[in-house]
Amino acid sequence: MRSSRFGGIVAALAVVEVAACGASPSPTPSLAPDADAGAVVTAKPPQQPFHFDHRIHAGKYQIPCQTCHVYADHSTIAGIPTASKCMGCHRFVDGNKPDVKALAKAFEERTPIVWNRVHRLPDHVFFNHERHVLHGVPCSRCHGAVETMAVVRQVSPLTMGWCVDCHRENQAPTDCWTCHK
Ligand code: HEC
Ligand code: HEC
Ligand code: HEC
Ligand code: HEC
Ligand code: HEC
Repeated sequence: MRSSRFGGIVAALAVVEVAACGASPSPTPSLAPDADAGAVVTAKPPQQPFHFDHRIHAGKYQIPCQTCHVYADHSTIAGIPTASKCMGCHRFVDGNKPDVKALAKAFEERTPIVWNRVHRLPDHVFFNHERHVLHGVPCSRCHGAVETMAVVRQVSPLTMGWCVDCHRENQAPTDCWTCHK
């Protein structure tokens, strides 16, 4: 996951990385309780309408993040998969499980799944996934080792200081209007 172009800040922020176990290039798939996955937890994760476990999808089966978060390298947002995307696999996988049956029912009834946001910047802040992802910043640098989390939670503070510190270290722009349009 880690790009050499991005080595500098990775070292500087090793504390966060180690806490989030994001340093391993090929994380050991594990379905153990994820108590150590986000030692820097900053907010309680919201309830979700359906059961979804990153440890199974991104951990055990190593489905790449961008298979589901398809916009991350060409848009401001990363995007959350629709029920149709889930069913692309679940038509064939685990169809007998109650959680997958509930998903299939929502899909057949065309009920959109509304996932609750885990990360949310204030409206006055502009953030852009594409710019960071194409620069080689790994997802784990900001989101932690999501593939070890039973429930995704915010492990970075998302404060202005957090953004600006990293921009300084990487000669990225720090003018106010970079992030406040
Ligand atoms: C099989 C599809 C799938 C894969 C693969 C996947 N995700 Fe997700 N991801 C989801 C779904 C569905 C949600 C919304 C439910 C939730 O928050 O758990 C989500 C939520 C998230 C969120 C929280 C979004 C928010 O609301 O702020 C982050 C961050 C995230 N994923 C990162 C990752 C990373 C990093 C990887 C790869 C290591 C990954 N995901 C792999 C489907 C996937
Ligand atoms: C430089 C830090 C950073 C990196 C790198 C990063 N994200 Fe994010 N991500 C954020 C922030 C900040 C938010 C909240 C954005 C907002 O509220 O507008 C977010 C929100 C999200 C969300 C929920 C909203 C959305 O955009 O759909 C998902 C899903 C997500 N990230 C997945 C990913 C994945 C997958 C990767 C790697 C391909 C990734 N992120 C890389 C910082 C980052
Ligand atoms: C790229 C293929 C793929 C996609 C897309 C996908 N899944 Fe899965 N899912 C899997 C695989 C593989 C398993 C594990 C099968 C097994 O081990 O029996 C699984 C297992 C599950 C399970 C049962 C295991 C558990 O956690 O209890 C649920 C529920 C589930 N997925 C929900 C979802 C949802 C919701 C989505 C869409 C947001 C989704 N999946 C998208 C491949 C996928
Ligand atoms: C891990 C380091 C890191 C963090 C954390 C980070 N950024 Fe960045 N950001 C960068 C780098 C590096 C670039 C330059 C990418 C390029 O040159 O294309 C960048 C570029 C950007 C750009 C595009 C700048 C332009 O040229 O227009 C925006 C907008 C941005 N970041 C907003 C944010 C916000 C808002 C946050 C906090 C929520 C944040 N970033 C957190 C590293 C980071
Ligand atoms: C790299 C991104 C980035 C840059 C550059 C940036 N900000 Fe921010 N700013 C943020 C984020 C993220 C927040 C929201 C989180 C927080 O309040 O810490 C924020 C919040 C704020 C707030 C609201 C604080 C509050 O208490 O609600 C003000 C005012 C502000 N910024 C002014 C500025 C000014 C002035 C500059 C230029 C000197 C600047 N920002 C440059 C990312 C940035």
